[in-house]
Amino acid sequence: MSCHSKAIAIIDSGVGGLSITQAIQQYLPNEKLIYLADNYYAPYGEKTADFIQQRINFIAQKFIEQGCKAIVIACNTATVIAIDQLRAQVSIPVIGVEPAIKPASEQSKNKKVGILVTQATSENERFLALIKAHQNGSEVFIQSCPGLVELIEQGQLNSSACQQLLQQYVSPLINKNIDTLVLGCTHYPFLKQQILNITGKSINLLETAKPVAMQLAKRLAKKNLLSNDCENAQIDFYSSKCTLAYQQLFRQLFNLKSTAAINLQLFDQNQKSV
Ligand code: DGL
Repeated sequence: MSCHSKAIAIIDSGVGGLSITQAIQQYLPNEKLIYLADNYYAPYGEKTADFIQQRINFIAQKFIEQGCKAIVIACNTATVIAIDQLRAQVSIPVIGVEPAIKPASEQSKNKKVGILVTQATSENERFLALIKAHQNGSEVFIQSCPGLVELIEQGQLNSSACQQLLQQYVSPLINKNIDTLVLGCTHYPFLKQQILNITGKSINLLETAKPVAMQLAKRLAKKNLLSNDCENAQIDFYSSKCTLAYQQLFRQLFNLKSTAAINLQLFDQNQKSV
């Protein structure tokens, strides 16, 4: 197999990275993609940094053994916690997701920016340094959102529990008079409409799917690894805890018709399918 036709592995703790995957498919339509939802261990945002680093190393190693040409960590939490050490260990390009602090502080008119993140991201030094480096005179209000990823993973996007949590997390930011809100977890774009119902249209919501796809394209082009063969286009979905309900959630969130063939495969044979 030529280097160009090798797969790109995309990793998240669950369905969050599907938003990034859609942007990658649009931007790089000739690439073979492998998506892993590590939902057996979701949410990452409530795990320790050690655990996340070890898990990301293990997964990356598996995909490198399979001959992947690049890895996308489609998860803000795993990026801030594990990307530096992973890059130091592997020779293929590793692309991560960082919250859109820079564009947010540039676009904010009143220089008040809110950011929704997981608990682990909110406490991470790399993340706090990123804010310092890019806030450019804006006040940045960090809000961690425990419980939200679990509800999305259970498909409870429109439940009253989800509505209540969002209200609890978004209201303090509205009270701070923010005009720009960064979605700093790849799961949250799936709640965009529910968030807009609380904020109204006067608050600008920012996410990062497109810049990640562009960055991936740039890195692959630089290493002469881009595929230009449309026959190569394909996507395989893996999960570390396959259930029928989870497969349905994948279809729903990936915007595929229910008849489309999304076959979720079990990632790690040491874990049981439930
Ligand atoms: N999508 C992950 C992120 O961007 C969610 C982390 C989690 O599993 O808590 O942070």
